[in-house]
Amino acid sequence: MCGIVGILGASEVAPRLVDALKRLEYRGYDSAGVAVLVDGTLERRREEGKLRNLDAALGKNPLAGTSGIGHTRWATHGGPSTRNAHPHMAGRVAVVHNGIIENYLELRAEIEGFGSVLESDTDTEMVAHLVNRELDNGSTPKDAVAAVLPRLHGAFALAFLFAGEDNIMIGARKGSPLAIGHGEGEMFFGSDAIALSPFTDRITYLEEGDWAVLTRTSVEVFDAQNAPVSRGESKSSVTSALIDKGNFRHFMAKEIHEQPEVIGHTLSRYIDFGTRKASVPGIETAGFDKISRVIISACGTAYYAGLVAKYWFEKYARLPVEIDVASEFRYRETPVSEDEFALFISQSGETADTLASLRYCKQNGARIGAVVNVAESTIARESDVVFQTIAGPEIGVASTKAFTCQLAVLAALAVQAGRIRGVLSEEQESELVGALAEIPGYAVQALKREVEIERLSQSLSKAPNALYLGRGTNFPLALEGALKLKELSYIHAEGYAAGELKHGPIALIDENMPVFVIAPYDGIYSKTVSNMQEVAARGGRIVLLTDARGAAESGNAADDVVIMPDVPEIAAPIVYALPVQLISYHTAVFMGTDVDQPRNLAKSVTVE
Ligand code: F6R
Repeated sequence: MCGIVGILGASEVAPRLVDALKRLEYRGYDSAGVAVLVDGTLERRREEGKLRNLDAALGKNPLAGTSGIGHTRWATHGGPSTRNAHPHMAGRVAVVHNGIIENYLELRAEIEGFGSVLESDTDTEMVAHLVNRELDNGSTPKDAVAAVLPRLHGAFALAFLFAGEDNIMIGARKGSPLAIGHGEGEMFFGSDAIALSPFTDRITYLEEGDWAVLTRTSVEVFDAQNAPVSRGESKSSVTSALIDKGNFRHFMAKEIHEQPEVIGHTLSRYIDFGTRKASVPGIETAGFDKISRVIISACGTAYYAGLVAKYWFEKYARLPVEIDVASEFRYRETPVSEDEFALFISQSGETADTLASLRYCKQNGARIGAVVNVAESTIARESDVVFQTIAGPEIGVASTKAFTCQLAVLAALAVQAGRIRGVLSEEQESELVGALAEIPGYAVQALKREVEIERLSQSLSKAPNALYLGRGTNFPLALEGALKLKELSYIHAEGYAAGELKHGPIALIDENMPVFVIAPYDGIYSKTVSNMQEVAARGGRIVLLTDARGAAESGNAADDVVIMPDVPEIAAPIVYALPVQLISYHTAVFMGTDVDQPRNLAKSVTVE
């Protein structure tokens, strides 16, 4: 993860670096730092913790200069401290880095061998030393970087600044994203176009293995073999306005409440509300009439969206689905063939494991589709077809609206696949699409349960553990509920398929264990009621999320019932996601944790 920025500018650079870093803080917030060329000398400021600490330090101790690099960190090698904060410097070189240098131990031994003293525990500092050694041996900055890059194993994006060189900045990309921004007599590097949005909308995306040498008026790009290449320029549509929280206390609360609207926006791209047909642009690329299997891979919450989609593709399109978390999928050597459609789900579109899984499937000839929220992301750019979620920027680190929008896209895809494959009749398609079209309205009703959920969360915030149970498409939602509670409130939680409970986890049940049961009244509701009775018999405290009919037929097993609108089956995991999110949100607020930036996390995970 980590966010990097570099500016060869025409005005004071430090405030501009901070402005760009504000837009990159979602990538990590363990520390932040800048290095600026002040009269040809590299000077830096670094602070542990959030960017506001660096901003305050620069306020007290400003840096004057027009060229600089900046960094916001998600710690990998070396704890979150000022000495491990970037930029790292050695002699005439300053560097910022996003990613991991996997052979850093070997490099460290080499550097210590030639007598250099290392100041940090990071892998990044090795890069500064290696490049500086090349400079000491007489190389130019360009030759020095060219000599060092092939020696670095792993995934990285780097930006270098050099003492005494006010008009040169070098960046490299291998595995982690890096963009060039073109200004008027100014030039920029950034982890993404969002970072550069206050300065320019003219963006060049570097490709795998590329590195680039910038001056204020020129760009030279080289590929991994050091051959000059031209990468073209595109116009970024990213707005430069910093998104605010509106009247909400946290971005997460705002994003939960935006869901009726953004799910509506997303659905309107993928279904026709008038004809009640699914109409997914680009669906022909998936080849649903020909393929033998759908492969889905993603991480975290996006993976749970994929798990829900597995139920939908199998039920509505009779398509077998292979699904795995991307960090496992990428190394499993799973057989993948040309008659398969591989679908990757990612809010950021930059998640390293998801991207690696995509590339694996591509190499093996599968058609590649992506459900992403960030249209210009690497995953979007490397896919044959992109099904964009129209969730808008998601700032809260815990995913909420991106998840429900992913589900909306996946539901439309599964229904249209069912129609294309002749599994669903026109009437069935119309009924399912009609149900999807109602989701924004159901979501509004679901949000009306917030006050009682807040009250419930207050008492639950004292529990050390919690369980979430669900069946069918609500099983992945149980997993998502547990993940949300863990990451936001740091309460240990697990999600289980309700029927699995008696195969082990029931041993955990006692009067201190809250059990959230996500169970709309459906064809298997009575099975879940049996599981609830098993919990109740052992003193567990049950919070049941169900509809009026479910409440009536729950056998009074639950201690608390949150009554949801009566929704069709296909809509349930989307609508029930909202109370599940609200439970975690309010529990975290009661516990006083950092809701929008929970500890140890980052929004975009570009390391393995
Ligand atoms: C949890 C959460 C993460 C992400 C995961 C994948 O609330 O947000 O689990 O879902 O890191 O991220 P993307 O969707 O950007 O690939």
